[in-house]
Amino acid sequence: GHTSFLVFSASLRKDSLNTRLASLAAEVIRKNGGAVEFASMEEFDCPSFNQDLEVDNYHPEGAEAFKKRILANDAFIIASPEYNGSMPGVIKNLIDWTSRFRPQPFNQHHALLMSASPSMAGGNRGLWSLRIPLEHLGTRVYPDMFSLASAHQALDEKGNIKDETLAKRFEDNIVGFMNLVEASKHYPCIKKA
Ligand code: FNR
Repeated sequence: GHTSFLVFSASLRKDSLNTRLASLAAEVIRKNGGAVEFASMEEFDCPSFNQDLEVDNYHPEGAEAFKKRILANDAFIIASPEYNGSMPGVIKNLIDWTSRFRPQPFNQHHALLMSASPSMAGGNRGLWSLRIPLEHLGTRVYPDMFSLASAHQALDEKGNIKDETLAKRFEDNIVGFMNLVEASKHYPCIKKA
């Protein structure tokens, strides 16, 4: 059937630019024949990680929800803000909690990372930091990452990228990722532990 993608934004903010970019990514996937499960970061809410909480096989509901969503889809896409040149604490906290399941759910799953920032640099440094725990956990993080700079001005009222060249780059990035995920489904030996 369809190749399916979990798409979510790592921002909890109501008017999040990253949530807008995630919505656009979802639209591009559907347009190119993929299936999308759109999630909200609120569903993945977890307490601050503390190993002392890990008694009787405890996992927070937010981590349970994230694990289920990862396993139910062929790949996931995160649009994440950059905070202080790195990833937001909430996404690192979620990754740490979710890494505690066995089998470990990130292993051999494909991921695409993107970022939106009002800055002229576009949040790319945050994505390089987000790669580290994901790759550590065995996620196949797509080499090409998309950063939307001046994001507060880059999107029109419909949520599309105004600049045509940039809009095409965004679509090409996603379609390249979709093709890789689709192709890898035919090689079950490298899919899922
Ligand atoms: C920021 N912001 C920011 N932007 C950036 O490009 N590089 C950075 O290092 C930081 N650092 C940073 C730290 C903290 C604590 C905050 C709250 C913000 C600005 C950030 O990109 C902006 O607030 C975005 O709008 C956040 O993404 P959402 O919530 O709009 O998706």
